[in-house]
Formats: sequence, C-alpha cells, structure tokens
Amino acid sequence: MASSSQSWSFSFFFMASILAIISQQKVAGVFWPSPWQLAHATFYGDDTASATMGGACGYGNLFVNGYGTDTAALSSTLFNNGYACGTCYQIKCYQSKWCFTGVPFTTVTATNLCPPNWSQDSNAGGWCNPPRVHFDMAKPAFMQIAQWKAGIVPVMYRRVPCIRTGGLRFSFQGNGYWLLVYVMNVAGGGDIANMWVKGSKTGWISMTHNWGSSYQAFATLGGQPLSFRITSYTTRETIIAWNVAPANWQVGLTYGTSLNFR
Ligand SMILES: *[C@@H]1O[C@H](CO)[C@@H](O)[C@H](O)[C@H]1NC(C)=O
Repeated sequence: MASSSQSWSFSFFFMASILAIISQQKVAGVFWPSPWQLAHATFYGDDTASATMGGACGYGNLFVNGYGTDTAALSSTLFNNGYACGTCYQIKCYQSKWCFTGVPFTTVTATNLCPPNWSQDSNAGGWCNPPRVHFDMAKPAFMQIAQWKAGIVPVMYRRVPCIRTGGLRFSFQGNGYWLLVYVMNVAGGGDIANMWVKGSKTGWISMTHNWGSSYQAFATLGGQPLSFRITSYTTRETIIAWNVAPANWQVGLTYGTSLNFR
C-alpha cells in the first residue's frame, strides 16, 4: 500500500516536472500573442499624423524612429505607467456598420498615453477614463479598419510580438552627471522591465524608469564606451549589448546595436 502510493506520487511529480519543463521551453524568451479581447477605438490627429509625434513614450519623430503612422495612444489601464510603451497590438473593427469588411486587422505600436478626462462621462467622450480599455489610434491607422466618420468603434484586439527591422536603439539625453536613455525599436514583447548601464571603468549600474520608454542613471559616465543590459518586461529575456556607444558619446545622439529581442 505504502509503496504503491509512493510510486503514484513519484509518477505524479515526474509528470508535473515534465509538463513544467515543456511549458517553460514554449515561453522561454519568446512572446506569444494574447487572446482576442473587446475594447473600443477612436482616432486623434489628422491624415498626416503630425499630432501623434512626440507622444508620452518619448519616441519623438515617429517617421525618423521607424514607427510611422501605425501607432496608438493607450488608455492608462493599458499604458501601465509607460511600461506598455513599444508594445504591439492587432486591432480589428468589430460589429459596427462603420467597419471595413474584408479587413482582418491592422497592427499598431503603443507610442502615447490617452489620458483620462474626468469632466467627461466614461461612456460619452471620456473614453480613456479607467477602467476602460481604449485605443486612440493615429488617424491613418484607424482609417485602415473603419470609416473615420464613425468617431468611435468597438474593436477586438490582441497583444502580438513586435516585428522590427534591425536592432535596439538607444537615444541619449541628460548631462555629465545624469544619463537619460530612450530605448527604441524593441522587437518581441516590445517592452522593457529593467535596464543597466556599464562604462568601461564602472560595474553594472541599475537604471531607474523615468517615463515612457526612458531609463536613467545618475552617474558620471563621460569618456567611456557604454554597454547596456536590458530585460524584457513580457518575456524576462535579457540582452547584453556591449560597447553600444563609443568613448566620445554625446547626448542628443542615438546609438544602435544589431541585437534585439525575439
Ligand atoms: C475634457 O473635457 C472637457 C469637456 O468636453 C473639455 O472642455 C476639455 O478640453 C477636455 N480636457 C482635455 C485635457 O482634453
């Protein structure tokens, strides 16, 4: 009796371990799409999408930095204090007479925050008030799935891996004692949980989240080549990009690497 129950529990834990190993291998470092969920979408700006430049994520000029007009501002429920900057979504118009038929979905990157407006009712204009899940899309992106005259449409959305050309890019701001780095062109999950910087004369220095897609270190790092270590928010994969910036790096410049997340 005792031995049969021991062998049963051994088999149970053996099977559980195998399942745990299989499921870990499936998600290790790779982001998989989430299920489709219901939300709503509006648009902001005009056909040129100029109003979408310089959004809360800090990507600046979206044409220069590769995001173009396939972008959206997220309600704060989705924005997650800026940790959702750079995440990607497929969005399809859902059960509205304004939907374009035969258009499966469009894909956008989160580049901005749609702030709440509590002077408007959450169901009449205050679309981005928590806990609403809302996408305020660049007008050209909205016009791929619905007629702009709709104003607002129900949508189905899901998180998807971000497809990027080339590697991570690091845009430097700050001064001699404060390095502020905007991380752009992030593939895979698209988001960042933690970041460290290392000068050739320092150890790894943990950076803190500033706002949007920017991370900062209060340190004197001038005159040294800089390396970065970055952990993905979604997949927890870590990348170490050695000597991204040369010793004569300057604020106002953007430095690239060939490395990126999956
Ligand atoms: C919030 O809504 C009010 C009422 O419609 C409007 O007058 C105001 O401009 C809005 N505030 C912002 C920041 O958009």
